[in-house]
Amino acid sequence: MQPAVPDPQIIVIFGASGDLTHRKIIPALYNLFREKMLPEHFAIVGYARTEWTDEQFREEARKSLEEFSRTSVEDQYWGPFSEGLTYRYGAFDDEKAFHPLHDHLSELDEARGTEGRRLYYAATPPSAFPVIIDRIGECPKAEDRRIVIEKPFGRDLASARALSEKVHEVFDESRVFRIDHYLGKETVQNLLVFRFANTLYERVWNRDAIAHVQITVAEEVGVEQRGGYYEEAGVIRDMVQNHILQLVSFLGMEPPASLAPEAVRDEKVKLLRAVRPFSPDETVLGQYASGKIGGTSLPAYREEPGVDPNSKTPTYVALRAHIDNWRWAGVPFYLRTGKALGRRATELTIMFKDVQTGLYHTMDVDGPPPDHLVIRVQPEEGITFTFQAKEPGPGFTPRTVNMHFTYSDAFGVEQTEAYERLIHDAMCGDHTLFTRADEVERAWEIVTPILDAPLRVEQYPAGSRGPEKADVLITPSRWHLLK
Ligand code: BG6
Repeated sequence: MQPAVPDPQIIVIFGASGDLTHRKIIPALYNLFREKMLPEHFAIVGYARTEWTDEQFREEARKSLEEFSRTSVEDQYWGPFSEGLTYRYGAFDDEKAFHPLHDHLSELDEARGTEGRRLYYAATPPSAFPVIIDRIGECPKAEDRRIVIEKPFGRDLASARALSEKVHEVFDESRVFRIDHYLGKETVQNLLVFRFANTLYERVWNRDAIAHVQITVAEEVGVEQRGGYYEEAGVIRDMVQNHILQLVSFLGMEPPASLAPEAVRDEKVKLLRAVRPFSPDETVLGQYASGKIGGTSLPAYREEPGVDPNSKTPTYVALRAHIDNWRWAGVPFYLRTGKALGRRATELTIMFKDVQTGLYHTMDVDGPPPDHLVIRVQPEEGITFTFQAKEPGPGFTPRTVNMHFTYSDAFGVEQTEAYERLIHDAMCGDHTLFTRADEVERAWEIVTPILDAPLRVEQYPAGSRGPEKADVLITPSRWHLLK
């Protein structure tokens, strides 16, 4: 399918001197330009407090591409792309601080034919989101304006509601794009196709055939330079309230009536409403101690820059979740994510029930595992179905075998970055892969009981598979990944 070309518009990035712009947003915009998926008439305006000139912004953008773009910087693309880049610095807090920016955007409309359309992108720390909205609200209304807001959207239910109210003072919900980059990942979107375009799996996608579900998002990296942010957030706000619950909703939702954005989002919200708020009694928290990952030493979380030496902030969580609806009643969802673990992998494992004939399977944990399906979000995106086949030779001995599908083998194309898909969708006004206000609020409700519960935070060595208590949580089963 040919991708749509968005209407002429200006993309205004708030937080343009920050890490996210550098690592993700600029490379995504450059690659969209290469693929002819930016509007023919476009401009990209960076805004931040850092006192840069247009030229400095372009130099920084070039550095971003050299370091982080999935394609190389070629003059034939870089030349016309960089002509569209300009930068303005200024405050966020002062009343009318965006008026000079507004004047610049109006000039660009004339010079570059962007027709008064704006896509604002709030890529700052979350504390700046409300003032950005206030400042935009003070500017004369543009022809068409939309806003992309990064995660985390609020830091609990009350603040998420307050932020939504503020956003709605200036932007109608139809103009708001709350971004969760996990929804930009090809394999996450593939859940909708895999589940609803195949007869076989949808028939068994329920409590009759599935014993339990495991979702693991394991990272090798520690908090790196983001200690200050992470101390405030912790793993539940950073990963569970958003990325993990998005994976749960795509995996667990009912078939939507159509692929229209609201039809898909309605089903996701419906699923989240059935997720029982997480129980502290079924949650294990951890924090990494020092250790080695692939031969490299990693300091303990408490020794990272910007982190309190006595911090109790969790960097790992494992929990048992329940979905109280017809499809999933009695099927536990084991969810797990952590930093500084032994390997980087995001996998969804569907464990089917043991066969009931008693011929081959025993309850012996060392016996052949029940059939299971592994959906690998990263790395090596793909799907593996593991089942039993007869071992060649005499007798009827089952042996565990695999059927594999990988994106790279099947399609032979390089995966694009999640941010490319999402920024392009926002430019085109397609909400399917963005979270709605009620969805974000429900996600906060689900995590509320464990956000501030006085739970013990277990130490685990960096490079390990996390706290051992997580194994007890899933007994008598076992984690499929990081055994
Ligand atoms: C971000 C979190 O949203 O997702 C980071 O803030 C985390 O802490 C990152 O490392 C993981 O993203 P990915 O795409 O590397 O799995």
